[in-house]
Amino acid sequence: FLKPTLSSVALGMTLAMGLTAGAAAQTILKIGYATTKESHYGVGSTVFCDEVEKGTQGRYKCQQFPSSQLGGEREQIEAVQLGTQDLTNTSTGPVGNFVPEVKIVDIPFLFRDYDHARKVMDGPIGQDILAKFPSKGIIALAWTENGFRHMTNNKRDIVKPADAAGLKMRTMENKVHMDGYRTFGILPTPMAFPELFGALQQGTVDGQENPIPVILASKFSQVQKHLSLTGHVYSPALLLISPKTWNKLNDADKKIFTEAAKKAGIAQRKKVNDDESNGIAQLEKDGMKVTKVVDGAAFREALKPAYAGYAKEFGADNIKKIQDVR
Ligand code: PAF
Repeated sequence: FLKPTLSSVALGMTLAMGLTAGAAAQTILKIGYATTKESHYGVGSTVFCDEVEKGTQGRYKCQQFPSSQLGGEREQIEAVQLGTQDLTNTSTGPVGNFVPEVKIVDIPFLFRDYDHARKVMDGPIGQDILAKFPSKGIIALAWTENGFRHMTNNKRDIVKPADAAGLKMRTMENKVHMDGYRTFGILPTPMAFPELFGALQQGTVDGQENPIPVILASKFSQVQKHLSLTGHVYSPALLLISPKTWNKLNDADKKIFTEAAKKAGIAQRKKVNDDESNGIAQLEKDGMKVTKVVDGAAFREALKPAYAGYAKEFGADNIKKIQDVR
C-alpha cells in the first residue's frame, strides 16, 4: 500500500477546498416578474443579472422567470419575504400591503411627468422609502419603473371622467388607486395580473389600466379596442431581494448587487421611454383606437375628494413635499 505523504494529503485538502469553493460559485438566484423577457421588466432584470454575474466572476447567476411564471406580484413579494424566491422586479401595486410607507407614491396625478417622478424616487424621499423595507422582512435594492398608466377598454373613447363612469375596470390590488378611480366613476375590480388577459377576453371586465410597455408586452390590443392616454398615475417599480439571500452576501457582494440594481433601474427606465415613443404607433397599427388628448384638468378636479382622504392618511405636507420637487 502507498503511504499518504504530507504533500499528497495537502493536495487532497486543496482539491476538496477548491471543490467546495466551486460549489459556492454556482449559486443560482431565482428572479421573477410579470411581463415577458423582452419587456421593460425583462430588460431591467437582465441588466441586473448580467452585472451580478460579471461582478462576482460567475459566483452568482440568475434564472429568470418572466411572464408571471412564479405567480402574481403579491405572491412573488410574499415568496421573497419568506425566502422561497430570491428576487422580484415588481410594481408598487401590492407593496403597500407589506410596507405602508410606499403607498404615498401610488397617489393618482401626484407626479407631473417622468422627470419629476424619477427625481423623487432617486432623491431623499424615494431613498427614505427604500430604507423602510428591512424592518418588514424585505430588502429593496433600487427603484426600477413600470411607467405612467393609461386606460384601455372595449366600450368607448375616454376623454374625461364622465366617459370612464360606469366602466368595470380591472385595477391592481391597491386601495390608493381604487379610492382615486372611484371618483372618476369607474367600478374598480381588483384582480391579480395573470388573470387579466382572460378576463378581458371573456368580458368579465370592460377595461384595465397599465403603462404602454405592459399593454404592448401583454398584447392587450388583441382584446381591447380603445386606448386613452390618461397617464392618470405613475407606477413605480422595485427590485426586491429576500433577506435570506441578502444576509448570505459579504459586504463586497452586497455592493455589487446594489450597483447592479441601480443599473437595472436605468435600463428599465430607458426601455419605458422607448416604448412610450414607439409603442403607441405600434398599438394603432395593431388596431387600437388611441385617444391622445384627454381632459387632465377634469380628472384632477374629480379626484379632489380622494385627495382629502390621501391628505388625512399621508399628511398634506408630505404630499406637498413630493409635489414641490423640481
Ligand atoms: O397591472 C399590474 O398588475 C402591473 O402593472 C403589472 C402588469 C403586473 C406590472 O407591474
